[in-house]
Amino acid sequence: MKTILITGGAGFIGSHVVREFVNKYPDYHIVNLDALTYAGNLENLKDIENKSNYTFVKADIRDADHILAIFQEYRPDGVIHLAAESHVDRSISDPLAFVMTNVIGTVNLLNAAKAIWNGEYEGKRFHHVSTDEVYGTLGETGLFTEQTAYDPHSPYSASKASSDHFVRAYHDTYGLPVILTNCSNNYGPNHFPEKLIPLCIHNILNEKPLPIYGNGKYTRDWLFVIDHARAIDLVFHQGKTGDSYNVGGFNEWQNIDLVKELCKQMDEKLGRPAGTAEKLITYVKDRPGHDLRYAIDATKINQELGYTPSVTFEQGLSITIDWFLNNQEWLDNVTSGDYQKYYEGQYRES
Ligand code: NAD
Ligand code: TYD
Repeated sequence: MKTILITGGAGFIGSHVVREFVNKYPDYHIVNLDALTYAGNLENLKDIENKSNYTFVKADIRDADHILAIFQEYRPDGVIHLAAESHVDRSISDPLAFVMTNVIGTVNLLNAAKAIWNGEYEGKRFHHVSTDEVYGTLGETGLFTEQTAYDPHSPYSASKASSDHFVRAYHDTYGLPVILTNCSNNYGPNHFPEKLIPLCIHNILNEKPLPIYGNGKYTRDWLFVIDHARAIDLVFHQGKTGDSYNVGGFNEWQNIDLVKELCKQMDEKLGRPAGTAEKLITYVKDRPGHDLRYAIDATKINQELGYTPSVTFEQGLSITIDWFLNNQEWLDNVTSGDYQKYYEGQYRES
């Protein structure tokens, strides 16, 4: 039996990756290592928590000794590393937290893998999950390829770029069998409502303003989270050691158009007159250092591994809204307490 250790498995994307692996590979032992920060939630994994091939371990990747002890106990054959501080706006107010988890935490994991594998790399793999934000920003045209030079602008993307460099350095220096994926913006069930799409779903439900930063013409490339989990599965099993794969669905939206599409679908699903939600759109102060446009060239993963997303954006968005409408208790739980303080601080001057 193979043991696969997944970090950040209680978070948004991690929980979908854990579920995909636990259900699809009953002969793997899946160990989910997560510190359960504000973004980690074991409610995301209720449906699989009692499966015999699943173990949850609460641990903080900043704690090198604890991480090494966990690696020595479980001796994973593979690591899929998703644990991170993931929100750009939080990185602007507290950059050091992003260095500690995203950079130091990643190096602690690399050291633990290196220590237990001890040069015996047959059947071993360290898969680092990263973002397209490391490439910086595009103008009106062009796409990020795997050859695009790194040019991060936010503390979040700078910390992810740094972690990517360390992962490659461990491959080049120690021969560690690493692989990387750089994915575009995800959306879907269990998305924490600090990010644009779930924040707007939450605010439409509560008839609160929909804050659009700047002129709303910033562009992001969106992928349904389950399609990201499928891509991670494919690259982890079939990708080439030492390589990076961009993951995306050729699905660019300007923020304002995306929010209008969301408003339209929400009005229909809630039985409210057309145009109701759009009235909540409110332009607010821009994000400092706001990247204009992200767009992924996903040709490599498509041609080498045959990857294509399974849903269109309209379908994925509809599934996502339905999930939030059917899981309002989840939304109420994660938006009580500390979330209120975060929200007031972030949107106070809006
Ligand atoms: P998330 O914030 O929803 O979840 C992060 C998880 O990591 C949480 O469960 C949290 O408890 C855990 N965590 C945080 N700090 C930790 C620590 N010190 N030790 C152990 N666990 C810790 O993030 P997400 O959106 O699911 O992103 C997961 C990964 O995918 C991140 O590495 C992120 O950079 C990357 N990514 C995200 C997107 C996106 O659109 N969300 C796109 C591309 C790549
Ligand atoms: P976000 O979901 O935070 O993801 P990222 O910053 O990683 O791309 O933001 C997506 C886009 O939406 C980005 O251009 C910033 C913008 N945005 C708003 O306009 N208003 C908001 O309240 C938030 C959270 C984001």
